[in-house]
Amino acid sequence: MSPDIDSVLNETRRFPPSAEFQARAQLSDPAQYERLYRESIEDPDAFWGRVARELPWQQPFERVLDWSAKPFARWFVGGKLNLSMACLDQHVAAGRGGRTAIVWEGEPGDSERYTYAELLAEVCRTANALKARGVKKGDRVALYMPMIPEIVLAMLACARIGAIHSVIFGGFSAQSIKDRVLDGGCTAVITADGSWRRGKVLPLKPVVDEALLGVKSVHTVFVVQRAANEIEWQSGRDVWLSELARKQSAECAPEPMDSEDTLFLLYTSGSTGKPKGIRHTTAGYLVGAYLSTKYVFDLRPDDLYWCTADVGWITGHSYVVYGPLANGATVLLYEGAPNQPHPGRFWELVAKHKVTILYTAPTAIRSFMRWGDEHVTRFDRSSLRLLGTVGEPINPEAWMWYRTVVGESRCPIVDTWWQTETGSIQITPLPGITATKPGSATRPFFGVDAAIVDEQGHEVPPGKGGYLVIKKPWPSMLRGIWGDDARYVETYWSKFGGRWYFTGDGARRDEDGYFWIMGRVDDVLNVSGHRLSTMEVESALVSHADVVEAAVVGRPDELTGEALCAFVTIGPGKVATPALAEALKEHVSKEIGKLARPAEIRFAEALPKTRSGKIMRRLLRDIAAGREVTQDTTTLEDYSVLARLRIEEE
Ligand code: WT7
Repeated sequence: MSPDIDSVLNETRRFPPSAEFQARAQLSDPAQYERLYRESIEDPDAFWGRVARELPWQQPFERVLDWSAKPFARWFVGGKLNLSMACLDQHVAAGRGGRTAIVWEGEPGDSERYTYAELLAEVCRTANALKARGVKKGDRVALYMPMIPEIVLAMLACARIGAIHSVIFGGFSAQSIKDRVLDGGCTAVITADGSWRRGKVLPLKPVVDEALLGVKSVHTVFVVQRAANEIEWQSGRDVWLSELARKQSAECAPEPMDSEDTLFLLYTSGSTGKPKGIRHTTAGYLVGAYLSTKYVFDLRPDDLYWCTADVGWITGHSYVVYGPLANGATVLLYEGAPNQPHPGRFWELVAKHKVTILYTAPTAIRSFMRWGDEHVTRFDRSSLRLLGTVGEPINPEAWMWYRTVVGESRCPIVDTWWQTETGSIQITPLPGITATKPGSATRPFFGVDAAIVDEQGHEVPPGKGGYLVIKKPWPSMLRGIWGDDARYVETYWSKFGGRWYFTGDGARRDEDGYFWIMGRVDDVLNVSGHRLSTMEVESALVSHADVVEAAVVGRPDELTGEALCAFVTIGPGKVATPALAEALKEHVSKEIGKLARPAEIRFAEALPKTRSGKIMRRLLRDIAAGREVTQDTTTLEDYSVLARLRIEEE
């Protein structure tokens, strides 16, 4: 698709940081910021070397960056470092063991707290439990868990012993788990019996059982008891994690990890049907997560920081777990839905725990807007001092609502652009420095050399849309796709001849040099801030017996940003009925997970194609968005006439 993404936005409102915010901010002096930013671009070795030396190394690094095998970077070459030490031991050693690390609240209202010293002891016990079942350095461990403290324990325990975690979001189906377990060659799984969601128990262990049918590589399924739902037990394979952990020592020596040892895999959708196992390594990832958390969220010891993302996504990895804990922050973790038992639950949590920093997604913000201001305003929000958003472009209207209603016009908003692949925030305001504009992620973070270019790689002038690229390597960049180096090179580096990292996003810059992200330019959709590949959904649809062909496109949706619209042709003798449409939606949920459930199924006589047989997606997008004639969705529509007209035009 060509970047015909010139913007229609013309947002001129500006919100500079208040003097009150600046007075206490980590960074508030523009000259100091300019100096640091310039250094980070002109002398990245000096900049990143200094940041990295703030972390507790087991063995110092010899070289900051080796870019000789471009596009495969090696950062902090020769160093050894363990993430769990940076997140736990260093704080305890510095006398901060009594500080609260995690405040957790379950959906039913139960709660727990862990100090840094307690978290360290529990992580060690969990690490020893993993070891007791033979999990060792380099092994891949899949996590399919709810938002409970044990998911943090499990990740840090893996990091402590050098096992590679692969967290699978709890909304994925058995088939999606199976695909990920097989692709990663996982030998163990950590899960829970179930989780509380919208007042009900959502079973997890049964989904894992189904996923593992016929999977030979997994020797152990560690189960955390959370919801006390009835589950089946495979003796020899299944163990209660807490029972085993209780018997273990509260000490476990951190495995010395090379800077470039893999820390985790996290699967994300690309433009083909097969999700990619994005591979992040140890030191560079930590440096990126650590520094961005410190400056973007302006963390202070007295903050109560809440990132509402599920740990199953990259936002949860970097900004619920690793970044905040490396900074010694106090983190709120909440298990359940934002409207359970009432639409004000988030704001009740803010008031109850005196949350100071809140980081959430535009789709959530739009839901709160829809539910009504009164659910927000009836709770005290005077503790809030900073708001953040991530996951998709935020419309100026939602941004303004977030600022005025949630933040009482007092809190700066950081709209942070980044990706699973980038590991940490890349384009963002700094709250004590940047004058923000509603809808803009503003400027690149330290060390990020971002540009907007046309098809030929020429930088486009201000106001013009183009492809967003990153021109220099950065510490927390992905190091590859698990088991598929060629796909890594092809997906991210081939578009501009190996010169720059291609993000897959379109963007434009305004006269002030601010970035405005305009969304994906490939066959990737963003539904509620979750990335989905149209091909993945299409292959799920055609795996249904009644379906012959399917094309999935996105259409704008007020709440979820984009929604999935599927055009489907069915086999001879099959009848297009609302029941079949429903069955197909269910089928996709079953194959991939609820998050991929199409909002709309449209039956078609045939899909519109070009003369060379390519599906005319642009036409389908127009139809889905209501820009062309629409009809009853259960009649077989014939798009061939429209298609022929288009071909004549083009
Ligand atoms: C894609 C990455 C890493 C955060 C969670 C999503 C879109 C992300 C923004 C933003 C506009 C954004 C982009 C990006 N995106 N943040 N602040 N403004 N768009 O991670 O699943 O890897 O998706 O999300 O399209 O490429 P992800």
